[in-house]
Amino acid sequence: MRALVLGGSRFLGPRLVQGLVGNGHDVDVLNRGTTPAEFPVGVGRLYADRQDRNQMRAVLAGREYGVVYDVSGLAPPETQTTIELLAGRVGHYVYVSTSAVYERRWTAPVTEDCPYNEVEGLAYGRNKAATEQALFKAYRDTGFPVSVVRPWMVFGPNNSIPSREQLVFLRVQLGRPVFLPYNGYVHIQYGHVDDLARAMVMMARESRCIGQAYNITGPDAITLNGYLQIVASLMGREAQVVYLDYGDVLEEAGNYRELLPFPWQYSRIASIEKARGDFGFWPEYDSRRCTVDSLRWYLAELAGSMEYDFSREDAMLARYGGGARRGVITPDGLMPEVVR
Ligand SMILES: NC(=O)c1ccc[n+]([C@@H]2O[C@H](COP(=O)([O-])OP(=O)(O)OC[C@H]3O[C@@H](n4cnc5c(N)ncnc54)[C@H](OP(=O)(O)O)[C@@H]3O)[C@@H](O)[C@H]2O)c1
Repeated sequence: MRALVLGGSRFLGPRLVQGLVGNGHDVDVLNRGTTPAEFPVGVGRLYADRQDRNQMRAVLAGREYGVVYDVSGLAPPETQTTIELLAGRVGHYVYVSTSAVYERRWTAPVTEDCPYNEVEGLAYGRNKAATEQALFKAYRDTGFPVSVVRPWMVFGPNNSIPSREQLVFLRVQLGRPVFLPYNGYVHIQYGHVDDLARAMVMMARESRCIGQAYNITGPDAITLNGYLQIVASLMGREAQVVYLDYGDVLEEAGNYRELLPFPWQYSRIASIEKARGDFGFWPEYDSRRCTVDSLRWYLAELAGSMEYDFSREDAMLARYGGGARRGVITPDGLMPEVVR
């Protein structure tokens, strides 16, 4: 099948391109060419800024694709442009959305029919939700063949969000504390980038996926402490933890995004049964295997050279002084004790 990847050069994109090429597809990627990237031999390069309708019209003129993967669409205008330019010339359009489109839930799991987050949350989630709604409207009005994937946090080698993996490894390596909200007992869920890419390749073959949205993530949820426990056990070192109070979390998470690996105020846990039922997807990587793979990458490529300015964290520690609630997460798998 002829495939186009909108994006393709940062984190998910390269793994998706590899997966498509490995499955025998002819692949083009479309991006601005500003993010450095090397692609497998035979991958076609199209250069355009998605914000610029004229550039997009020029590069897409006369092209037809069996499947288009919209990995780079963040807000409705750029995807509205591709809907208009590709109408009638694409067999399946897979949009990469996010779990942040869902409203807060106090129950688990979150299934795909849970309501959108209409009134709260960051612009990122609202823009993704609005983009989904524009795509589903095009599906209802004109049959535009869209499927949506809603990944939870994506982990794996080359993660482009350093706070979630690389900076945690670095802090533990240096014996520095990791800041966590809510005594570390909020549940998080993450999946491996290769599982996500594999799901996206699989779903493009299934016409029953058209008009549908799918949660894609790992099979298990884990507390923040549990994540640190995996890191401590794999690195063979204690993880020092400082637990922030609610007010501090709100203040610091907003001002200093790299401080907290996960600034969640509530657990959001996915059901991935719909993807299993409709196209046979089940993840190969659970929480631990994901972190094994990322840590392998970190140790091979970053551990000796990664630098980070911790002065802001030092200032916070000085401000908290002896008042901080601290924990020590040991490699042996015991639950952490919170101490003053
Ligand atoms: N990471 C997570 O935990 C997570 C969770 C849920 C959902 N997601 C979603 O997953 C997707 C994956 O992102 P990724 O960074 O890994 O994807 P990627 O496809 O690997 O990289 C982003 C691509 O977008 C291109 N791009 C950016 N702005 C552009 C523009 N104006 N015009 C054309 N191309 C543009 C970049 O290339 P140039 O810079 O060269 O243009 C790059 O190729 C995103 O949609 C994200 O919202 C991620």
